[in-house]
Amino acid sequence: MNTPKKTALVIGGSRGIGAAIALRLARDGANVALTYASAAAKAEQLAGAIEEHGVQALALKADSANAAELQAAVEQAAARFGRIDIVVLNAGILHIADIAEFGIETLDRMLDVNVRGVYLAIKAALPHMPPGGRVITIGSNTAVRSGHPGSSVYAMTKGAVAVMVKGLAVDLAPRGITINNIQPGPIETDMTADMIELVKDWIPLKRVGQPSEIAGLAAYLAGPESGYMTGASLTIDGGMSL
Ligand SMILES: NC(=O)c1ccc[n+]([C@@H]2O[C@H](COP(=O)([O-])OP(=O)(O)OC[C@H]3O[C@@H](n4cnc5c(N)ncnc54)[C@H](OP(=O)(O)O)[C@@H]3O)[C@@H](O)[C@H]2O)c1
Repeated sequence: MNTPKKTALVIGGSRGIGAAIALRLARDGANVALTYASAAAKAEQLAGAIEEHGVQALALKADSANAAELQAAVEQAAARFGRIDIVVLNAGILHIADIAEFGIETLDRMLDVNVRGVYLAIKAALPHMPPGGRVITIGSNTAVRSGHPGSSVYAMTKGAVAVMVKGLAVDLAPRGITINNIQPGPIETDMTADMIELVKDWIPLKRVGQPSEIAGLAAYLAGPESGYMTGASLTIDGGMSL
């Protein structure tokens, strides 16, 4: 008898790290639902690529800053696949500016997407997650060492995620669900396109990372071998924060 496929939900899965994770989980045999904010064409294209792995895909438009949209997307994913085994909280935005110039609307938007949206998506997914479920957040090595002018708000949001994960690990343990946080350093995506050359020299390994390298760690956290790990923040940054 075939083992039923697992279902993964990647919040913010249309591009970059989220897309690489969605593809990797599909390659490992999971059906994948993913959300996006605006890149509909990329999300649909990715859904096609996911299905080439012999699994099902579902692309859902849901702004992580909008609680109702987020809730509706999670419900649609659960209704389509029956349950959610793995949820990846990847949606995130970056704005770098000195405190004197940092706009309140941008501050609110970053808190809404990077922190509130993460918490609300986990809250929405949990009723659909069986024991053995895996929650994986994508934080940042800026939670460990900021070191970059103007990154205080971004670092604040990612620090909040790391602490949220510790607290939720305790709350989710009785349900047999683990939660861990990946803290990447600079990874080659749209988000970092204009800073790659600048930051390369700050990294002991003298290169930026690839989305597939983050996806590899996510695959481990999503799998059975990570079952004793919960509440951890794992930094993967070429040694940048050492
Ligand atoms: N790249 C790095 O160097 C790096 C380092 C450390 C941490 N991270 C974190 O890793 C995550 C992914 O980064 P990335 O570099 O892959 O970014 P990216 O290339 O800009 O892609 C961001 C993804 O998140 C989605 N997204 C953004 N805002 C959203 C919203 N309000 N609602 C729903 N989805 C939203 C985007 O959807 P649309 O396509 O629809 O916009 C896209 O799929 C972020 O949390 C980021 O903070 C990145």
